[in-house]
Amino acid sequence: MTQMVRPRGLVIAVDGPAGAGKSTAAQAMAAMLGLLYLDTGAMYRALALKALRRDVDVCDGAALAALLADTAIVLQRTDDGRSQVLLDGDEVSAQLRSPEINATVAEVARHRAVREEMVRRQRTLAVAGGVVMDGRDIGTHVLPDADLKFYLTASLDARARRRQADLAQLGYTVRFEQLREEILQRDFVDAGRPHHPLQQAADAIVIDTTSQEVSRVVEQMVARCRQRLAR
Ligand code: CDP
Repeated sequence: MTQMVRPRGLVIAVDGPAGAGKSTAAQAMAAMLGLLYLDTGAMYRALALKALRRDVDVCDGAALAALLADTAIVLQRTDDGRSQVLLDGDEVSAQLRSPEINATVAEVARHRAVREEMVRRQRTLAVAGGVVMDGRDIGTHVLPDADLKFYLTASLDARARRRQADLAQLGYTVRFEQLREEILQRDFVDAGRPHHPLQQAADAIVIDTTSQEVSRVVEQMVARCRQRLAR
């Protein structure tokens, strides 16, 4: 009897620092290619939110790991194509982008036990393929065998300006200089942490988004994916 072997769907990794435009571009690309968009930063943000709510010390890795073991985080797409995050069943997407979470999340993500469990969950989500996964360590550690890897970057000022606009949309007014400082600090923690820091994979396609419209960035990414699919 012949067995049908279904090839795994395309697996795409998108990494880069805060505000480089990863999530906007990755989400648009996933929609154009009919792939599922998975925002791993949202998983760390969800744990940070729960820790703040429960008053769990974000410097205590063991306490955070215990909290995570008892936490359900679901990434899903609504019927109209938006990404949503459910934390223990409640929709928390907007709350995950608050200045408090921005200031706390990198500390939460620094702990080895937290990262190991998050990576385990992320690999499970990607097992069937057909995904675009966005984060800091996707191409280097979570999905090193991804079919395509992108690394998005942009100048610090461009990143701070974008973040200011994102926050304004959510109703937060934050000074540009303060955001610039916070992003620098988060880059510093992300790039310097001992367990799988922010790094560019050797085989990543690097795109500097500083002076490019999102649509142009997405176009380049989709074109690369189509080339890959045609092989
Ligand atoms: O949207 P933005 O680029 O600001 O951040 P994010 O992708 O939501 O990630 C928030 C934080 O989670 C990062 O600054 C990292 O500290 C952490 N993170 C991580 O450690 N590993 C990932 N794969 C994704 C996010």
